Amino acid sequence: MADNAEQAELWNGRLGKAWVNVEDYIDGMMAPLSTVALEAVNAKPSDRIIDIGCGCGTTSFSLGATGAAVWGVDISTAMIDRANEKDNAAGNVAFSVGDAASQQYTADHTVVFSRFGVMFFADSVKAFANIRSALVPGGRLVFLCWQPPAANPWLSIAGAALQPFQPADAPPLDPEAPGPFRFGVPEDTRKVLSSAGFANIAMQPVVKDLHLGDTIDEVMRFQSNVGPLSGLLETLDESRHAQATAAVRDAFAAKADSKGINLEAATWLVTATNG
Ligand SMILES: C[S@@+](CC[C@H](N)C(=O)[O-])C[C@H]1O[C@@H](n2cnc3c(N)ncnc32)[C@H](O)[C@@H]1O
Repeated sequence: MADNAEQAELWNGRLGKAWVNVEDYIDGMMAPLSTVALEAVNAKPSDRIIDIGCGCGTTSFSLGATGAAVWGVDISTAMIDRANEKDNAAGNVAFSVGDAASQQYTADHTVVFSRFGVMFFADSVKAFANIRSALVPGGRLVFLCWQPPAANPWLSIAGAALQPFQPADAPPLDPEAPGPFRFGVPEDTRKVLSSAGFANIAMQPVVKDLHLGDTIDEVMRFQSNVGPLSGLLETLDESRHAQATAAVRDAFAAKADSKGINLEAATWLVTATNG
């Protein structure tokens, strides 16, 4: 398989379509984290910004609302199709389907941004070196990525509930494999970015309570589309499918109170510069 073929298949198949289904829910839930990342960019009308792994384009349009020129790049056709359906009256936001790791860039961008879209490269050093080639000298990299699962109960609760349903020979999580937790370990992230030629690398913890929903049904809609349950369901027969779903539902129900279901999420806000 070519470099990012496995991820391309996933985001053009089950996961990309599911993400489009629950896009509004995800954007609402992620808002407290997005605000911090967008403030860190502090975009100006003179900026030329690339939004890597832009998905359905929500953060691209938030950045574009400042007057900056924004280009969203994503490997998923379904998600870029959704982004292209959105109102772009000002005409300063553009999207294309592409692999950010091998995309050809011109070195005239002031900022490369991403909300959880840079953790899926087969070769992260090579991908970030290519991404750096898009930046003017001194141009900035600003991205959000997840801290390890133990710091993210909003995700790990489902993972723990599903443990009994995992195949006995399931390999342990490899922190260096492409996936949501690829940049959870700061030492490794710094090593990757400095090997890719970035300077002034900083990682600031951003920890927020996420509102997962007012009801368990809302939570389960996310879980069965893109949460840890969604991938596993494909591998289970009907009765195990029902048992796994019930296990996740019970785990979240135990966390519900009069304010709904709210759980902690821990991320890194990573910043760096091109020289
Ligand atoms: C966790 S989603 C985040 C989407 C979006 N940034 C958001 O916050 O809603 C990860 C995104 O990265 C994209 N992606 C994965 N590998 C990619 C690659 N090599 N090049 C471009 N996009 C990629 C996926 O298609 C997906 O849209």
